[in-house]
Amino acid sequence: MAGVKKIYFGTNTKMYKTIGETVSYLQDLMHYTSDLDMERIQLFVIPSFTALEKAVKTVKPERIAIGAQNMGWGDAGPLTGEISPVMLEEIGVSLVMIGHSERRNVLNETDEQENRKVLCAISHGFTVLLCIGETSEEKQNDVGNEALRRQLKIGLKDLDINNARNIWIGYEPVWAIGENGEPASADYVREKHLIIKKTLKEIFGKEAGEKVPVLYGGSVNNQNAVSLIQTEGVDGLFIGRSAWDAENFGTIIHEAI
Ligand code: PGA
Repeated sequence: MAGVKKIYFGTNTKMYKTIGETVSYLQDLMHYTSDLDMERIQLFVIPSFTALEKAVKTVKPERIAIGAQNMGWGDAGPLTGEISPVMLEEIGVSLVMIGHSERRNVLNETDEQENRKVLCAISHGFTVLLCIGETSEEKQNDVGNEALRRQLKIGLKDLDINNARNIWIGYEPVWAIGENGEPASADYVREKHLIIKKTLKEIFGKEAGEKVPVLYGGSVNNQNAVSLIQTEGVDGLFIGRSAWDAENFGTIIHEAI
């Protein structure tokens, strides 16, 4: 099966799910995905910090990767409220999400800060899920493509071709996320994923850039998952609410593949 392109499915549980809820969710998700061929699928779950240690122990790493929702940019230091790569390594986490829409747009993180985090995570050997997405204002002003290119070019600044294999991109239009979000149409997603892929090739070179997986997120649900995964340029789905019930997440994955 070497060389088979994987399809990515993941969820971030945000500030939901306690330790106990995360463990039982992961046990259920293992059950509902036990028949899947993991040579073809990359499944990941990004729970809260407090649940990480138990989460890592609950899953088989070859079936579900566990990631952290954020990471500080140094091994140790005066960064109250952040978590260090050393602390994540200590509990066996090897995937970290950086720049989720809520970190950028609610907690005001900048592209420069995301870049510092990305560089630090990469230097520790983590796989980084860098999330990007245009706001509704940027969309209305027709500068969505510029916003995505800026987030990629600054967020991935100073990385080179050898780092490409440790980068995943989550494309999540800010206006599509959450309760009030409206899912993007397949045509819109196609256009944006092609812009993102073009930019990744500029950053990493054609061959390495092409291999960086680009996942779509933002109101993915049972109705739109199949058409989104079939959309050109979409390598996977990054799902919030619809994935927080393990059985439903399993159903979406089965339908999508
Ligand atoms: P949603 O969340 O699927 O509930 O819109 C997506 C996200 O924030 O990653």
